[in-house]
Amino acid sequence: MKLKPDEMEFFRACILPLLEYEPVCRMDSYVQHGNTTCLKHSLAVAYYSYTIGKRLRLKCDWAALVRGAMLHDFFLYDWHVRDKSRRWHGFTHPKAALSNANRHFIINRREREIILKHMWPLTPSFPRCREAALVCLVDKVCSVAEIFESIVSRFYRNLPALIEG
Ligand SMILES: [Fe+2]
Ligand SMILES: [Fe+2]
Repeated sequence: MKLKPDEMEFFRACILPLLEYEPVCRMDSYVQHGNTTCLKHSLAVAYYSYTIGKRLRLKCDWAALVRGAMLHDFFLYDWHVRDKSRRWHGFTHPKAALSNANRHFIINRREREIILKHMWPLTPSFPRCREAALVCLVDKVCSVAEIFESIVSRFYRNLPALIEG
């Protein structure tokens, strides 16, 4: 699933200004799922949310969709490291991401909704705009793909040992 050249240009115009900020780039030093960093996960969620939305000809605020998706996991810590203050990471990280996003950028209503509601139904409140609903769905698909990719690559890494042994 690919973007048309003009769509790709728009996508890059939304993403590149965010990537100029050191805190956004710092997401690349935290693992999200398996072998995927937070930055790559967020980029994948932004790319596929935009691509799927375009292919389905949805009416969206595309800039808000891409920016919100890119910042939806902007919590800036390694959630795999045990820490009492973030024991409920799954429930609390949307608020941490929103707080960081507000600290560095001007976040509009749709972007806020995307970041805050992307963990539904784990967090109780339903995404109330189309952009947030789409990112919520694509985030789950990307997360499952990243987890399976890691399991499969681990299995294949062990394959020679299985044959020998
Ligand atoms: Fe998340
Ligand atoms: Fe995510």
